[in-house]
Amino acid sequence: MRKKIVVGNWKMNMTFNEGKQLVDDITNELASHSSDHVLKIIAPPFIHLAALSEKIKSLKGFEVAAQNCHHLSNGAYTGEVSAAMIASTGANYVIIGHSERRLYFGENNNLLAQKVNIALANKLTPIFCIGENLVERNANQHLEAVLKQLKEALFHLSPADFSRLIIAYEPVWAIGTGVTATVHQAQGMHNYIRSEINKKYGKEVSTTISILYGGSCNAKNAKELFACIDVDGGLIGGASLIANDFAAVINSVVK
Ligand code: PGA
Repeated sequence: MRKKIVVGNWKMNMTFNEGKQLVDDITNELASHSSDHVLKIIAPPFIHLAALSEKIKSLKGFEVAAQNCHHLSNGAYTGEVSAAMIASTGANYVIIGHSERRLYFGENNNLLAQKVNIALANKLTPIFCIGENLVERNANQHLEAVLKQLKEALFHLSPADFSRLIIAYEPVWAIGTGVTATVHQAQGMHNYIRSEINKKYGKEVSTTISILYGGSCNAKNAKELFACIDVDGGLIGGASLIANDFAAVINSVVK
């Protein structure tokens, strides 16, 4: 059985008090439903990690992620945050390769491969994002685009290390746009990703790794996306900032 996972990526939103309140509201919203079959991960901004980690991890079935980490272990890199620092706050996960990092901060696959290595070395689980942009999708090159990201950023890993990852397929054209991939597009890509992992690492790894969908996933469309055989949950941006929407997305994961 693959782990079912829903991750809330707060991005650059939430003051400390707003974040605390949101966690309380999510807990209240979830109280009436059992969501024990879903691992719930919240990714607040770095500045709140230490303080919110304790609060979030005290909730049953909740874990904490950072949204990024530096690719080196330490040193004179003003303003940056290392994987070891993240781990020291109690967070066990880190989002790596989000398309906003690739687009606005120039992060490429070579750099992301180093981030994955340092995260794993510090016992963090990378939630690694891949996905094509609109030009690639329209040119029917979405499969090649995603395969290139997998090969260049992840396929250097040993099978044991690769199996520690969570993959998130996030078509760039669907992130924050209100345009979601269709069930057909999502299932097609998830199946393709799993088949390429199977080719590289074999059945044991490819059938046990969780592949999440992200990109305008919300309370309205989560159920049908999560019903796809190769979709193991979601990486949620906008809808993770509203407690009852996020709870509804979590409750859309079938047992
Ligand atoms: P969105 O963001 O749900 O707001 O589209 C998803 C993400 O960027 O992880």
